[in-house]
Amino acid sequence: MFGGCCGYSRHMLTQSISRVEEAERPASFDEWAAEVRRLARERDAVLLAHNYQLPWIQDVADYVGDSLALSRLAARGDARTIVFCGVHFMAETAKLLAPDRTVLLPDLRAGCSLADTVTAEDVRKWRTEHPDGLVVAYVNTSAAVKAESDVCCTSSNAVEVVESLPEGPDVLFLPDTFLGQHAARMTGRRLDIWMGECHVHAAISPAELRDKVAENPDAQLLVHPECGCTTSALWLSGTGDLPAGRTHIVSTSGMVKAARELGDGHALVATETGILHQLRNANPRATFEAVSPAAECRYMKMTTPQRLLDCLRNGVYEVEVDGEIARRARRAVERMIAIGQPGGGE
Ligand code: 13P
Ligand code: SF4
Repeated sequence: MFGGCCGYSRHMLTQSISRVEEAERPASFDEWAAEVRRLARERDAVLLAHNYQLPWIQDVADYVGDSLALSRLAARGDARTIVFCGVHFMAETAKLLAPDRTVLLPDLRAGCSLADTVTAEDVRKWRTEHPDGLVVAYVNTSAAVKAESDVCCTSSNAVEVVESLPEGPDVLFLPDTFLGQHAARMTGRRLDIWMGECHVHAAISPAELRDKVAENPDAQLLVHPECGCTTSALWLSGTGDLPAGRTHIVSTSGMVKAARELGDGHALVATETGILHQLRNANPRATFEAVSPAAECRYMKMTTPQRLLDCLRNGVYEVEVDGEIARRARRAVERMIAIGQPGGGE
């Protein structure tokens, strides 16, 4: 599900990289990485990196993974400090699960356009209209929103989490409309779905997807459920333009797993382009191509090599969550973590 890697990936040199990546390339990866590792040891820090991070950050991290894998790692590790190479809600989630440890985010501006579409007040308002209702919060939300919710989910367990809820009460799924529609389709449950979206995934259009599939009729299709083109992908897979067995609607780590099983095949990838680095490392024999090469999350790219050094040198920026909010938000995250664990689920 996730992989640790501290060596320089030679494979990466042969791949085309984006302008952001090129601009941030350290002058010497080996020297930069050795300094990062030295500082991390000094601070007793574990480096967790999301699959969308810049390639250099992925390669220097102790673990690279999706939101669920990184939450689980934060919950069970014992390093004094967690350096979260990702975005703010991920660092907050780590702090909820590891309240006694220091959690650092290298750039506090690393937010999330999707998380910003819903506030705690919005959830409270829904609850007054649905007093017995249940709220499922995608992990891409602030701790304040999680605190108002019953259970969290990520893209890799949204279907399982919705399935675990009792039949009967109204259910609000927030904030991602495409993931909510996917969970409703897969479970057959009626959900109230918040109309939020991620600017990166929503912009991957059905037209772009159709064109890429037409140009590459033999390719597999890996689609993140936050994508605006998810419905189109399912439609294509039902029309014979794309045989059903070739379409995978999965989290970023689900994509890495699918990549390992691809042999020397070809896959079209609909998500943020940072994932291509993990996919190519997971299977250097296969060809991976972005459905939309413009799908870059500027927040994820704020963890630059220089900012990671500054973070480790100066112990910045510490992420804290207010006590009562933390207590209630932790409950929602822990319920999610329990689902799928032995003896877990509700
Ligand atoms: P994953 O949980 O699939 O890694 O997705 C997180 C995210 O932010 C998607 O944009
Ligand atoms: Fe948020 Fe979208 Fe960036 Fe993921 S890709 S962190 S959902 S803005």
